[in-house]
Amino acid sequence: MNTNAQLTFQSNSITDTVTLGESIGALLRRGDTVLLAGDLGAGKTHLSKGIVAGTGSTNLVTSPTFVFINEYRTATQLTIFHVDLYRIESAAELDSIGLADATAGSGICLIEWAERDPSLQEIPHLHIELIHHKQTSRVIRLTSYGVRATEIIHILQQHPPLIITQGDRA
Ligand SMILES: Nc1ncnc2c1ncn2[C@@H]1O[C@H](COP(=O)(O)OP(=O)(O)OP(=O)(O)O)[C@@H](O)[C@H]1O
Ligand SMILES: [Mg+2]
Repeated sequence: MNTNAQLTFQSNSITDTVTLGESIGALLRRGDTVLLAGDLGAGKTHLSKGIVAGTGSTNLVTSPTFVFINEYRTATQLTIFHVDLYRIESAAELDSIGLADATAGSGICLIEWAERDPSLQEIPHLHIELIHHKQTSRVIRLTSYGVRATEIIHILQQHPPLIITQGDRA
């Protein structure tokens, strides 16, 4: 699948990360998939909190590390599937957690540690990588795989919620 666009932001605080998430969440629609990558503590769950809030959801977002999948509702009653694959240990376990429902396109799908399941890369998606920069700053790089994610990146580039550090292919 072709990479169509890339856009890199700098976050200098938790608030920045949540704000970026809110802008992304406000743009999401039924069938959209967001795959989040980055080390432990990079900020994937904080970004997810922003994304869920940005959909107009009032649900409390918690890390789905132990339950694998949390479900929330957007303001328009779409389901948001918030998945964390960090603790997945085998392909059999992956099959058992209900990931197929989450990725079927009936709602919005948000997956932390998505690299644990390489087949997810086949789905058109917005890829977000968070990189530790300093103690309270993060580099957040968005890459689109598919038309919808490219559309989202173009809108964020026109109305950037944070400082853009790189937008070479958007
Ligand atoms: N700019 C920032 N953006 C996001 N989090 C930040 C930032 N600066 C510091 N932090 C801290 O980094 C941590 C990020 O935690 P978070 O749970 O969001 O990470 P995660 O990527 O989901 O980790 P895990 O892989 O364990 O699920 C928190 O302790 C938060 O306070
Ligand atoms: Mg997390």
